[in-house]
Amino acid sequence: MQELEQLAQEIRACQRCRLAKGRRCAVPGEGPADAAIMFIGEGPGFHEDRQGRPFVGPSGALLEELLAGIGLQRQQVYITNVVKCRPPGNRDPLPDELEACRPYLDRQIELIRPKVIVTLGRFSMARYFPGQSISRIHGQPQQQGDVTVVPMFHPAAALRQAQWMDAMREDFRRLGALVAALRPPSDAPPGPPSDDDYQQLSLFDC
Ligand code: URA
Repeated sequence: MQELEQLAQEIRACQRCRLAKGRRCAVPGEGPADAAIMFIGEGPGFHEDRQGRPFVGPSGALLEELLAGIGLQRQQVYITNVVKCRPPGNRDPLPDELEACRPYLDRQIELIRPKVIVTLGRFSMARYFPGQSISRIHGQPQQQGDVTVVPMFHPAAALRQAQWMDAMREDFRRLGALVAALRPPSDAPPGPPSDDDYQQLSLFDC
């Protein structure tokens, strides 16, 4: 079994923190094991908890629209969260929950080795830009070791505030340019992913 899928199974069985008690499904993340771009959100919401898949509610619809605007389908990127189980009532994840879940995200990043990481919202931003304010640094790529990290607003915040929606659309335009620069000039535009690239989770209840 692929290491990434093995890790996903470990996450689905996880009991490391109190969030395990209230979840219906843990949400490990999804996308190609060799994705060049990884999106890291906050934690599963209602729809994600039901389906065991990240960003499948309104925030996910916006993320997909923004991806389409830069010529990408969600199946071409890896999407995950800092916590893999839904906090009750969608409250913020607590420090000990973030700490308990951190090794899973560390491992996902080690296995996938993305070239670009886009943080969505302040919890994933804090991993790379501790103490910074999202309204000051959003959209500004920063090289950290061999990965370029781009902090962005969370789609849910953009859905709430028109001003942040504009900022997010602009940040995605810049992301599009960054991603285009990653592709060698001879590269054909990416086609639809094959079944091998993309592991659907329909084999599992969650
Ligand atoms: N919000 C997140 O941060 N992650 C999801 O998977 C869905 C909504």
